[in-house]
Amino acid sequence: MASFRPLHDAPDRSYADKLERFGRFAAPELKRIFEGLGLAPGVRVLDVGCGVGVSTGILAEVAGDGAQVVGLDLSLPHLRNATAGPKVALVQADAAALCFRDRSFDLIWSCNTVHHLADPVAALRAMQPALRAGGRIVLAQSGLLPEMYFAWDAPLDDAVRRACHESYRARYGLASANIASVRGLVGLLQGAGMRVESVHTGAIERVQPLSAADRAYFAETVFAGYWDERMTPYLEEPYRSALRRNVDPSSRDYCLDRDDFHHVQTMTVCAGSA
Ligand SMILES: C[S@@+](CC[C@H](N)C(=O)[O-])C[C@H]1O[C@@H](n2cnc3c(N)ncnc32)[C@H](O)[C@@H]1O
Repeated sequence: MASFRPLHDAPDRSYADKLERFGRFAAPELKRIFEGLGLAPGVRVLDVGCGVGVSTGILAEVAGDGAQVVGLDLSLPHLRNATAGPKVALVQADAAALCFRDRSFDLIWSCNTVHHLADPVAALRAMQPALRAGGRIVLAQSGLLPEMYFAWDAPLDDAVRRACHESYRARYGLASANIASVRGLVGLLQGAGMRVESVHTGAIERVQPLSAADRAYFAETVFAGYWDERMTPYLEEPYRSALRRNVDPSSRDYCLDRDDFHHVQTMTVCAGSA
């Protein structure tokens, strides 16, 4: 029987393009985060919810020769589109029911994924036997704090964020409390009986000149992929028109062509040990 998945993930569901663009966009920050994990030579790492494996590939590069890095995802299309490189092994499985021998990994990394699980605490508990002595589970989540896209128009940022949340809740039939629960990384690890070793929130921040990866992420993943027609019913005037002007490349007000474009979003990394 298929398990309940709050964000409708499934073995045949794909949002590979979005994941690829996020990975390329956030690559510099992800690399710094992985470098800060103090990975020992020969480390064994599992990336749970690896998506198309962009960050798994970066993880493997940072872990170096001799490391073993495995990416796991529920979605076959994500794995088929994976660009993690030859050093990474990929496994299709449900994060709620891992399929590894006990004491297989020194580190389980999971970014932007645990809130996709019906019972993240139970899943984190079930993952712990796969850790070797002294092993860690490190959860990462972007966007726990409000993001800034329109540095010159705070009310527009607020209105877009609210509309985005409302449309997301409507799409998945979620209550506000379900969305807020994504913020509870510390509590999830504690609930699973782990000791929180560290927690740190850093910024992903961009100004001009934007790279091709930045522009692709903003224009295609965020503007076209999230701020699409499903969101507009939740956005009133004058914000609806203001948003359109800001995200339309043919408009004089296209935000990605403004000299004062300044984007900030957060990435929180929380490490727990058994
Ligand atoms: C938002 S994406 C994050 C991908 C990647 N970690 C990143 O940061 O870009 C969530 C990923 O978790 C996967 N996923 C969702 N539910 C899952 C489950 N029950 N077991 C394994 N993977 C799951 C999805 O297929 C998707 O690739």
